[in-house]
Amino acid sequence: MSEQTADQIWTEIEARERRTVAELFAGDDARVDKLSARIDWGEGDTAGGVLFDWSKTHLDDDLLDRFESLARVRDFTAKRAALLNGETVNVTEGRAAEHTAQRGTGADASVEEAAALRDRMRLLVVAIHDGALGEVKHLIHVGIGGSALGPALAIDALTRDLARVDVHIVSNIDGVALEQAFAACDPKTTMLAVASKTFTTIETMTNAASVMRWLEEGGVADPSGRVVALTASPEKAVEWGVDETRVLPFQESVGGRYSIWSSIGFPVAVGAGWDEFEAMLAGAQAVDRHFAETEGRDNLPLRAAFADRYYTRGRKCQTRAVFAYDERLALFPDYLQQLEMESNGKRVTADGKPVDGPTAPITWGGVGTDAQHAVFQLLHQGTHVVPVDFIASIAPGDALDPAHHRILLTNCFAQGAALMKGDKGEDPARNFPGDRPSATILCDDLDAATLGALIAFHEHRTFASAVLMGINPFDQFGVELGKRMAKEIEGGKNDFDASTMALLQAAGLSE
Ligand code: F6P
Repeated sequence: MSEQTADQIWTEIEARERRTVAELFAGDDARVDKLSARIDWGEGDTAGGVLFDWSKTHLDDDLLDRFESLARVRDFTAKRAALLNGETVNVTEGRAAEHTAQRGTGADASVEEAAALRDRMRLLVVAIHDGALGEVKHLIHVGIGGSALGPALAIDALTRDLARVDVHIVSNIDGVALEQAFAACDPKTTMLAVASKTFTTIETMTNAASVMRWLEEGGVADPSGRVVALTASPEKAVEWGVDETRVLPFQESVGGRYSIWSSIGFPVAVGAGWDEFEAMLAGAQAVDRHFAETEGRDNLPLRAAFADRYYTRGRKCQTRAVFAYDERLALFPDYLQQLEMESNGKRVTADGKPVDGPTAPITWGGVGTDAQHAVFQLLHQGTHVVPVDFIASIAPGDALDPAHHRILLTNCFAQGAALMKGDKGEDPARNFPGDRPSATILCDDLDAATLGALIAFHEHRTFASAVLMGINPFDQFGVELGKRMAKEIEGGKNDFDASTMALLQAAGLSE
């Protein structure tokens, strides 16, 4: 029989008789085994792993068969190989997407180059920790988007107990953000990291210049001696005044939102320590191995993408929520927003044709249990069906009475069960429809390797979704128009629409 087209597969998926998740459990004793699996890594002290449980979604054998067909039609295996071999997968910008090369999987030359650049970074990090650059108590890291979200997440997740150096990640052009960092730092013991792939981003360059002035006004004799640049445009960093020895380059083929593994991870290595940074890479590498070597539904990022596509296109869910039942992952939804929405919030395919269905859902979320007391009302009883991911760690992050962690985990699991089960209630106001899907990502512990694994899992899940949609997840032209118009306003252009002109006048920015 000849292979169906993507359209035919979707028509059949949409026409399928729907069964509730509870019915799917009742009809298949092996459901948990089929739809939950672990990725493990390391041995002894470095051993760790994560359980990915997708059994409370509507995926069943039939749907998995159909999505495996879709993956075949979309050439998933060849596209995955192209990604992992460093071929030109970012077709609109004519380059590879070599984030996995940073952690050891890719074209030999790229892996080697990444390792050499990482070694250069290690020497600088060790020198800072050894005091070779004078006393360094604080690091102000300025960057935005992919040059800030990964470092902010990792610093928040890994250095709450103990930081080798106190790191402040500043992204916003709003000076309030930078002033807050200044208030917490002493210029005499502060270093500046300027993180920008392009080394042209207005927010970052403006913030960097303000930090330089603050160092100077704070009595630092040679402010430029305190600057490190993290960039794929080393020549621009040197032009800006950073000494070549403190420019830590990364490859052009590493996308901004995929760059935590490169020198953009410098603040993580400075704040959490070199070994932690390496552990993060090792956790990601374990997921890369799984992603590269596992086929079809057993490939966990691909399986997650099957569910994501099913809900977004098959059930018209416009959003997907992520709740970390772990304070240390408070910034994970922010990180995922850029990863997923900047990658897959597109309306044309890689070859420029209109897409054949909705693309990335809106990613949002928060921290459990806080979110239960704020937004879960809508998840349980609202008119929108929102697929939810729960993320938790079996090992606690605190040393308090074990009741804290027990209550945290029981609430996490209860929410997934309640969303699925529902409750008839005494009256309509107390009725819970149930059959609301969720997935649970349960980590053995939340250490650096696990954080790396979680991020890599989501990178591959995002890529797999893009392949199923036929889009290029590695460009982001959608951010350009607004930037361009802001520049035009700065340049004095004043023929915008009446509303914009009135706002500019009200703020005193135009005559
Ligand atoms: O505006 C979007 C964007 O290009 C992101 O993709 C990127 O992570 C961010 O800006 C920052 O860019 P850069 O690292 O070049 O300063």
